[in-house]
Amino acid sequence: MEIARKYLLSTIFSLIILSFIIIAVLRSDHLLQFAPISSKPAYSVSMDQLRTKLSGENQLHAVRNSGEPRRNKFRNRPATRKLGTLEQRLAAARAAMRKVASESGGERSNHSVATTVHDGADRHSVPVGAIYHNARLFYRSYLEMEKIFKVYVYPDGEIPITHDGPCKDIYSIEGRFLHEMEHSAGKFRTNDPNAAHVYFLPFSVTWMVKYLYTPLSYDVTPLKQFVSDYVRVISSKHPFWNKTHGADHFMLACHDWGPHASRGNTFLYNTSIRVLCNANTSEGFSPRKDVSLPEIHLYGGEVSPKLLSPPPDTTIRRYLAFFAGGLHGPIRPHLLHHWKNHHDDDIRVYEYLPKDLDYYSFMLNSKFCLCPSGHEVASPRIVEAIYAECVPVILSKFYVLPFSDVLQWEAFSVQVEVSDIPRLKEILSAIPEDKYRKLKEGVKAVRKHFTLNQPAKRFDVFHMILHSIWLRRLNIELR
Ligand SMILES: *[C@@H]1O[C@H](CO)[C@@H](O)[C@H](O)[C@H]1NC(C)=O
Ligand SMILES: *[C@@H]1O[C@H](CO)[C@@H](O)[C@H](O)[C@H]1NC(C)=O
Ligand SMILES: *[C@@H]1O[C@H](CO)[C@@H](O)[C@H](O)[C@H]1NC(C)=O
Ligand SMILES: *[C@@H]1O[C@H](CO)[C@@H](O)[C@H](O)[C@H]1NC(C)=O
Repeated sequence: MEIARKYLLSTIFSLIILSFIIIAVLRSDHLLQFAPISSKPAYSVSMDQLRTKLSGENQLHAVRNSGEPRRNKFRNRPATRKLGTLEQRLAAARAAMRKVASESGGERSNHSVATTVHDGADRHSVPVGAIYHNARLFYRSYLEMEKIFKVYVYPDGEIPITHDGPCKDIYSIEGRFLHEMEHSAGKFRTNDPNAAHVYFLPFSVTWMVKYLYTPLSYDVTPLKQFVSDYVRVISSKHPFWNKTHGADHFMLACHDWGPHASRGNTFLYNTSIRVLCNANTSEGFSPRKDVSLPEIHLYGGEVSPKLLSPPPDTTIRRYLAFFAGGLHGPIRPHLLHHWKNHHDDDIRVYEYLPKDLDYYSFMLNSKFCLCPSGHEVASPRIVEAIYAECVPVILSKFYVLPFSDVLQWEAFSVQVEVSDIPRLKEILSAIPEDKYRKLKEGVKAVRKHFTLNQPAKRFDVFHMILHSIWLRRLNIELR
């Protein structure tokens, strides 16, 4: 009896799902601008060559102390003179970086690096200090990027889903990056696709969800279909995608479903650089080729004025730790379960903040800000905590932190295992005062890398994202 009922229920359930899929497929035909893929693709680069690029000799590797720049067979295809020059300049950049790596001989985070840099650059912006794995190497890489790096933005597709994105609320980084790239990226953008090192697919997954997704259907097929069609269009109109299977192409998405959408084209998923807020290694995020994107919550399109001027260091922060947020995702239930009704004056954990209490005032009044993953691994709290000069406490699993190939997160944040959530108070109270002061200094120093400027400024979040893409295109790891 019981079994028969279960069987019946699951059949009904399957039928419901199936009908949703059918409806979605029918609907998507009308919504999409491009026709579906039909024939089997024929690529100009064999899978063998592609694999050589992705593993083996051209695998991402730490900058070596010696050795010639590696030949990248994959990209030394029969090419125009221009392409040859492009690759030669990249090779020169790799060599310059290897030289710095060998000079610093494994020494990391040397606090006196600033005094050894003589290139006429603005001294205030020279990276220095414990927040970097290797500040000199990062600086060299950054300067090389400024010298040569060029991005081509595909002109194909129409507003709103392409060439536009949200500039407000939780996914604002999608729109802000896209607009900066399309309209103000200045020297980093080229209109000559033959002069580009990387190619940007300028679509917004957040707008796909807004315009193509059927609410509550939990069906991401229309998103995948759009991405699939977009790749088909650019790969038939332009020669660049087919030459590399998309290895020198990138997409950017902050929406939780960015990774799902990227499955619309297997090469985009497997081979291209995916710049994602939802950088979950358990869902296919590959730190060697993909880029972790910070989530920045802009209510009404701006950073809250409260976060622009945190209190001076002499101000006592009243609370040890603070969190307020909904009970979703795999981690927050633990946090709320242990700490929500704890009535502890040191650790303030709320599910919904009572109306008379102010979220940012809590952040500005706490030494540590708890940043648990929610529906996806990234949390806008991390960047808010940095703005509030509240040391972020990262509570996540499978999350690759933004810019972690350059930044030493241990120098400005605390990571606590999910299993240690019950011991949070013990762990945070045990951090000595001078260690806390150093962490806070780190938070202040790293702020500029998470700041949005209009137009963008050197070393700000736009340029850090671009630098992460640059490293993946160079096929080089800085650590
Ligand atoms: C790239 O490959 C696809 C799939 O085989 C093909 O339809 C398209 O025409 C190719 N693009 C160019 C520019 O040759
Ligand atoms: C930092 O670099 C300077 C100059 O390269 C060197 O003299 C000094 O010994 C280094 N300090 C550490 C702690 O490695
Ligand atoms: C993508 O990667 C998956 C898993 O490694 C593999 O099974 C699949 O064949 C790859 N597809 C392409 C087109 O490279
Ligand atoms: C990361 O991916 C794993 C595997 O799909 C999933 O179980 C986990 O919930 C994801 N993390 C978050 C915060 O979504």
